[in-house]
Amino acid sequence: MTTYITTPIYYVNAQPHLGHAYTTIVADTYSRFKRLCGDTVRFQTGTDEHGDKIVKAAENADIPPREYVDRISAQFRETWPLLQVEADHFIRTTDAAHIAVVRAILQKVYDRGDIYFDEYSGLYCRGCERYLMEKELVDGNCPDHQTPPQEIAEQNYFFRMSRYQQPLLEHIRNNPEFITPERYRNEVLAFLSEPLTDLCISRPKSRLTWGIELPFDDKFVTYVWFDALINYLTGIGYPDGPDFEKFWSVAEHLIAKDILKPHAIYWPTMLMAMGVPLYKKLHVHGYWNVDDTKMSKSIGNVVRPKELVETYGVDTLRYFTLREMSFGLDSSFSSDAIVVRHNADLANDLGNLFSRAITMVWKYREGRIPAPSFPSEDDQSLRDAAQAMLRDYRQAMADFRFHLGLQAVWEFVGLANKYIVGNAPWALAKDVEKSARLDTVLYNLLECLRLLTLTLQPVMPGAAVRMAAGLGLVAADPLVASLEKGGVWGLLVPGGQLMAITTLFPRLEGKTTGEPVAKTERDQPQPKKQDAPVMTEVDLVDFQFFQKLDLRVAEIIAVEPIKNSKKLLKVTVLAPEERTIVAGIAEHYQPEELIGSQVVIVANLKPAKLMGVNSHGMVLAAKTLIDGKEKLVLSKVRETVAPGSKVA
Ligand code: MSP
Repeated sequence: MTTYITTPIYYVNAQPHLGHAYTTIVADTYSRFKRLCGDTVRFQTGTDEHGDKIVKAAENADIPPREYVDRISAQFRETWPLLQVEADHFIRTTDAAHIAVVRAILQKVYDRGDIYFDEYSGLYCRGCERYLMEKELVDGNCPDHQTPPQEIAEQNYFFRMSRYQQPLLEHIRNNPEFITPERYRNEVLAFLSEPLTDLCISRPKSRLTWGIELPFDDKFVTYVWFDALINYLTGIGYPDGPDFEKFWSVAEHLIAKDILKPHAIYWPTMLMAMGVPLYKKLHVHGYWNVDDTKMSKSIGNVVRPKELVETYGVDTLRYFTLREMSFGLDSSFSSDAIVVRHNADLANDLGNLFSRAITMVWKYREGRIPAPSFPSEDDQSLRDAAQAMLRDYRQAMADFRFHLGLQAVWEFVGLANKYIVGNAPWALAKDVEKSARLDTVLYNLLECLRLLTLTLQPVMPGAAVRMAAGLGLVAADPLVASLEKGGVWGLLVPGGQLMAITTLFPRLEGKTTGEPVAKTERDQPQPKKQDAPVMTEVDLVDFQFFQKLDLRVAEIIAVEPIKNSKKLLKVTVLAPEERTIVAGIAEHYQPEELIGSQVVIVANLKPAKLMGVNSHGMVLAAKTLIDGKEKLVLSKVRETVAPGSKVA
């Protein structure tokens, strides 16, 4: 199967903001999801660089249009990697190849008689770059820009759009999936119930030179929409490139409701006039407001993607926007909303599930994947829930209902957390006879984590790398990167070694302190530092608990290997009294290099007998990875102190 997904090409009269970021994150998530399904995918975005709006912005910046468009287009290109957006192609309407094809298409449509010259007078909105109809105005103003349109009379070229009204109506009626969600399809059908007027597609050069010259009249340039929409074809090598052949028949466009009419009416009628089959689907989403207010430069509440990433992290931004917005409806961004979602869904539900499950496998099975035995009823319902989650997730993601896909995933996270509580692995670990049951419970939990890593790859590709690493896998492993190969229960191989990972999603402060975390142009608090791992709630212990631990400096005075054990050493220390401790460090240290070291021990651990040797305490060490292998590094004291000194 093949997939071709596009975003609008963004005007370069403004810098990228949350609205652009959202559409582009959605397209990236969809393209990653389709790759997860095994599709060959092409994902295209870009910039729309002609027209009078751009000329005005360049004038304001006091630089020539060429230099201006280069500068802002670069800002868009530099923004996408920060959001972990990986497009296959970034198109610019100033690309020579695009210009040549737009001219060829204009000539073709002109030769077919679908472009004609006429005198026209009308109400023109500069913001929309189109003529408005009287009935569209609200209190005499453009409804989108709240400014009065200008009365303009001039001679221009027109595209005979009205000719294609009936075929378009039929196509929309016969193809319920052509425009979704349904509310936008209905909006278009309502619009088409009235006669369609022809579309003005040129500007005289006396008024605008920054555009593509008409091939049949050098005194005119083409109107922006005729130029812009064609990017979806030029970007894949229309008319005879192999990628056009491969991808056009499956083209899916993603836009917000603001540009519904150009995409649902101008574009399909243009394609009909060109003799090119229509695109397959148009997906339309709603608008992001900020704190329930329309985002606008004049209000000063424009939210910039770069600052969002610095403040909240890319995974959180991607997750939040996809989870919070019901695709098709408007949504409101606020710093409280994103912090609440981060802390509740990511740090608590998902993060804790990961850290609890992986920590237990380290604690009870030395980080090795245990082998499961026959499933209990409880195990079977967990498996069934996993399959149901995968099915619902897959359906929702394919239908652009990302919030529902994520809801299904989080219901499963909740079940997995309940499975831990219900099976109490810590109690099983105390009973040797329940060792096989503990193996099964731990294995099942790791399988849950694997399936979560798989489903979250498209949404949070960065977090998925860390989640996969925790399971001892790379993110490209089909077990977590292919729904076909990895989307069934029970694929983790027993015996595999997990890796130690730090907290997946450190909690974000802000909500509880009442401090503003949002970064808009209006309020500019310092970015929150996120790089230091913060403990999650289940990790927190109270001070009294900590006080019970007797941590002391111990000086090693003798070390001996223990017979029949590869891992253990018998360590004799002064702390300050002499005692022996059995430590699992034989694979990491030679006995002789330890003598004389001062290390930190837990002095009040209950004594135990290990391999016949008395152990009074525990030596502390850090777990780390060196050359991909786990290594233990003893926590030593750098300056010599009296043996037995308390560590606090
Ligand atoms: N250049 C045209 C599109 C040509 S496509 C052939 C254009 N550019 S734009 O810069 O104004 O981008 C509009 C698009 O940006 C919207 O359709 C949407 O994808 C995104 N958004 C801009 N503001 C938005 C919000 N406030 N909320 C959500 N998305 C928004 O129109």
